[in-house]
Amino acid sequence: MTAIKYLLLILVVVAEAICLASGWVPIILRGRPKGGMLGPPREKRPGEVLPQPMIFNLQRRDHFSGSRVYYWNQRYFVNDAFFKPGGPIFLLIGGEASADPLWLLDGAMVEYAKTFNAFCVLLEHRFYGKSQPTNDLSLESLTFLNSKQALADIAAFIDDELRIKFNLTNNKLITFGGGYSGSLSAWFKNKYPQMVDGAVASSAPIYMDLDVGSYLATIMDVMGNTSHPACVKETFTASNTIFEWWGQPDKREKMFQMFRLCDKIDHDNLIEPSALYSALADNWQLVAQYNGVNRTFTGTTLNTTETTINTLCGIMTDSSRGPSIQRYADVSNLILEKFGKKCLDYKYQKLISEMKQESLDSSVAEGARQWIYQSCTEFGWFAGSDRGQVPFGPYFALPFNYSCDQCASLFGQEYFCSLEYATNDINRYYGGYRMQLSNAVFPSGTNDPWYPLMFNGTLPSHAQPVVIHGTAHCADLYPSSQNDPPQLKQAREIIANMINTWIS
Ligand SMILES: *[C@@H]1O[C@H](CO)[C@@H](O)[C@H](O)[C@H]1NC(C)=O
Ligand SMILES: *[C@@H]1O[C@H](CO)[C@@H](O)[C@H](O)[C@H]1NC(C)=O
Ligand SMILES: *[C@@H]1O[C@H](CO)[C@@H](O)[C@H](O)[C@H]1NC(C)=O
Ligand SMILES: *[C@@H]1O[C@H](CO)[C@@H](O)[C@H](O)[C@H]1NC(C)=O
Ligand SMILES: *[C@@H]1O[C@H](CO)[C@@H](O)[C@H](O)[C@H]1NC(C)=O
Ligand SMILES: *[C@@H]1O[C@H](CO)[C@@H](O)[C@H](O)[C@H]1NC(C)=O
Repeated sequence: MTAIKYLLLILVVVAEAICLASGWVPIILRGRPKGGMLGPPREKRPGEVLPQPMIFNLQRRDHFSGSRVYYWNQRYFVNDAFFKPGGPIFLLIGGEASADPLWLLDGAMVEYAKTFNAFCVLLEHRFYGKSQPTNDLSLESLTFLNSKQALADIAAFIDDELRIKFNLTNNKLITFGGGYSGSLSAWFKNKYPQMVDGAVASSAPIYMDLDVGSYLATIMDVMGNTSHPACVKETFTASNTIFEWWGQPDKREKMFQMFRLCDKIDHDNLIEPSALYSALADNWQLVAQYNGVNRTFTGTTLNTTETTINTLCGIMTDSSRGPSIQRYADVSNLILEKFGKKCLDYKYQKLISEMKQESLDSSVAEGARQWIYQSCTEFGWFAGSDRGQVPFGPYFALPFNYSCDQCASLFGQEYFCSLEYATNDINRYYGGYRMQLSNAVFPSGTNDPWYPLMFNGTLPSHAQPVVIHGTAHCADLYPSSQNDPPQLKQAREIIANMINTWIS
């Protein structure tokens, strides 16, 4: 009797362990890797002392309702080591991840701060990291998560905390950000111009669109520009072979082994091809977005100055590896190994069950769930292959509305592709490509898949886009190095000169 009970207990424990381990999150989800678009500038050094977290405890949960006021604790960090009285404030706006105080010790903003004797601050974004306005991530709670609330947080923080507490009443203020937080930097300058003297908006997508076919198309262009231009053709062939093999039971088994899939392919499940094509495209998205950018990916051995699109294209065009589908699997397996994973997850239901977790202690509270919510309700930015031929899957197997399916499965049927009105509203609200603002700089890298969504217009004085050829996402914000290409060095000089004009 006890033996049977014991056995049952083991079974339950094993079953629970399988359940817990069953879900997964893509290595890059709607442009966001774990740790956020602007991941850490470098690894923390052993024994290194980081700036201590501070709390603004009078932040309002809802800035746009006059009814009952709820307060929450917003976390921030400061570094006054470079500050001299009268110097400017450099405010790094937190984005879609926990705020990392390493950014107050290293990176381009700190280098500018040393030049200009600036007081450095990093403000965490609501709903990310320890800055939680609600006690869970239920759909009801997430209604307080949007960019307009985040901008109002920044404004309240500057007036009610930063300037008072640190006696910085009249100091000039410059905002910084990269990726989504770069957009916030530009939008804050646009919506609260009286509160800020200049904005650095690195790699900032400022145009909202449901279907950003240009994201995958840019990756294809970058592949074609490597020293292995046949890469594009080989990848097309691999994707087509996957489709041909899909209908053949023995070939499905072969793909299961080749791609080290965690689960067998369910031929009758119509969303399954999208799920697999999407998981395989993620390898290319992650490497392309940080192509050549010297950043770290916590918990992995991926190094995007070593493993670049050129590396992946070298594999795709190496005929000694076998047919192109085998090479496509080799690319995927390489990234799997860098992430320390034994098999490739792709199952739709496993993704959804993972992302449905609402607790602040869950794995997806790291930011994945919050970010997909923002994507499903405000920004879109669904990368699909519908708008043109891209090599990562035929349009019917990798449509942008696969992202709509995810929104609907997570938040309800009314979230299926319904945000077209919302993206139009947001483009009107912030201005999109026609945004009007002064004292702003928009550094962008032409190899960044986000590049087509960045500001490309003409601006009034003291404002300009800075196009950096051949670099990728947020390259200008990372610590400078002697190995940086000349155009990147030059871009940082232009940015420093702009800052100098704004604060003089
Ligand atoms: C990358 O950054 C590390 C420090 O974070 C630095 O030591 C190294 O020189 C950089 N490498 C390149 C290729 O820029
Ligand atoms: C606050 O800053 C002003 C201007 O820099 C200075 O004159 C004043 O002494 C400072 N006050 C305190 C309490 O530090
Ligand atoms: C590819 O190279 C061509 C020619 O050098 C250049 O015009 C184009 O901008 C490059 N595309 C990308 C995405 O780097
Ligand atoms: C990535 O590899 C390069 C070249 O080996 C090295 O210089 C750099 O420091 C590495 N980057 C990181 C972030 O570890
Ligand atoms: C998604 O897009 C594909 C290709 O355009 C189309 O065939 C399919 O019907 C769409 N799915 C839904 C649910 O609208
Ligand atoms: C900016 O980019 C958009 C989208 O690619 C394009 O429609 C627009 O013409 C571009 N504007 C300028 C001034 O190049």
